[in-house]
Amino acid sequence: MNAVPKTSNPDIVLAADKLTKHYSVKRTMFTQGTVKALNGVSFSLQRGRTLAVVGESGCGKSTLARQLTMIEAPTSGRLLIDGEDVAGADKAKVAKLRQRVQMVFQNPFASLNPRKTVEQTLGEPLAINTTLSARERGERIAHMMRTVGLRPEHVSRYPHMFSGGQRQRVAIARAMILDPQIVVADEPVSALDVSIQAQILNLFMDLQEQFGTSYVFISHNLSVVEHIADDVMVMYFGGVAELGDKKTIYAHPRHPYTRALMSATPALFEEDRTIKIKLQGEMPSPLNPPSGCTFHQRCPYAIDRCRQEEPQLRLVDGRHVACHRAEEVGDADA
Ligand SMILES: Nc1ncnc2c1ncn2[C@@H]1O[C@H](COP(=O)(O)OP(=O)(O)O)[C@@H](O)[C@H]1O
Ligand SMILES: [Mg+2]
Repeated sequence: MNAVPKTSNPDIVLAADKLTKHYSVKRTMFTQGTVKALNGVSFSLQRGRTLAVVGESGCGKSTLARQLTMIEAPTSGRLLIDGEDVAGADKAKVAKLRQRVQMVFQNPFASLNPRKTVEQTLGEPLAINTTLSARERGERIAHMMRTVGLRPEHVSRYPHMFSGGQRQRVAIARAMILDPQIVVADEPVSALDVSIQAQILNLFMDLQEQFGTSYVFISHNLSVVEHIADDVMVMYFGGVAELGDKKTIYAHPRHPYTRALMSATPALFEEDRTIKIKLQGEMPSPLNPPSGCTFHQRCPYAIDRCRQEEPQLRLVDGRHVACHRAEEVGDADA
């Protein structure tokens, strides 16, 4: 796992290099403000692997997803898909790149067209982007339905005729039908019953094994992340707090924010009693970012330096972490 993208490396299917997204918003009737939703996020995604993006609501996860899927253009920074710079590509090329990166949203009720049958939802991308005959498209649709655990005889059903879990299977089938290289899934199990969540997670993992798809899997839930991730990127306030191999980070989180998130997840760390950080207060307003480290107001480790100097992502103990005191974090109670 590298924080700095290596674009020439064929194992890297997607690389984000200092991706930044600012939105201008009305503060009052007369004044404009700038929301810095994403602040220089860099990472690389390895082929066939799952990078989980985790963090509290409002930290910029969905904004990141919209940049990676080219739904929006970043304010600055670079996005490379299979080594190709999206910003440098012409329209036809961007259309091709978009096909390679598909998205699954949290709520399949909202993301699926209620007036389209499964046949239409899955058939349209095939009709537009392939030269398959109608009969071949039908076969591909039936095969994809079986692959995601749906019954092909339900091909004429509308979204409302399925359960929540089945609807998400339809959305996953739609994302997979053109055999994308990358799927960006934004909280894809958060709206589902807990009993269904594991089934859908296992489906994602089965599909990855079958097709070799690379995932950016967004979740606020660390148990979900532990189940599905190879690598983990912890985001805070539009930036990267900690980034690395899942086992390394879960075994010993080095950012106080990661530790705080993990302390709030009861199923984890029953054997590790040293993790006792409680998250206090709320994320600061994105219209009024704090000086220095954006986490300092909530951090039990904060010292003067943290109030003044923004920590850069750096390699500590086998992962990347943006904390001045990363070496000390977790070695003794703060
Ligand atoms: N289109 C937009 N205009 C203005 N602010 C936005 C817009 N989209 C997101 N934001 C702001 O950017 C920040 C990150 O939001 P988001 O990416 O949705 O976070 P998450 O998905 O982690 O909950 C939030 O402060 C949110 O209010
Ligand atoms: Mg979101």
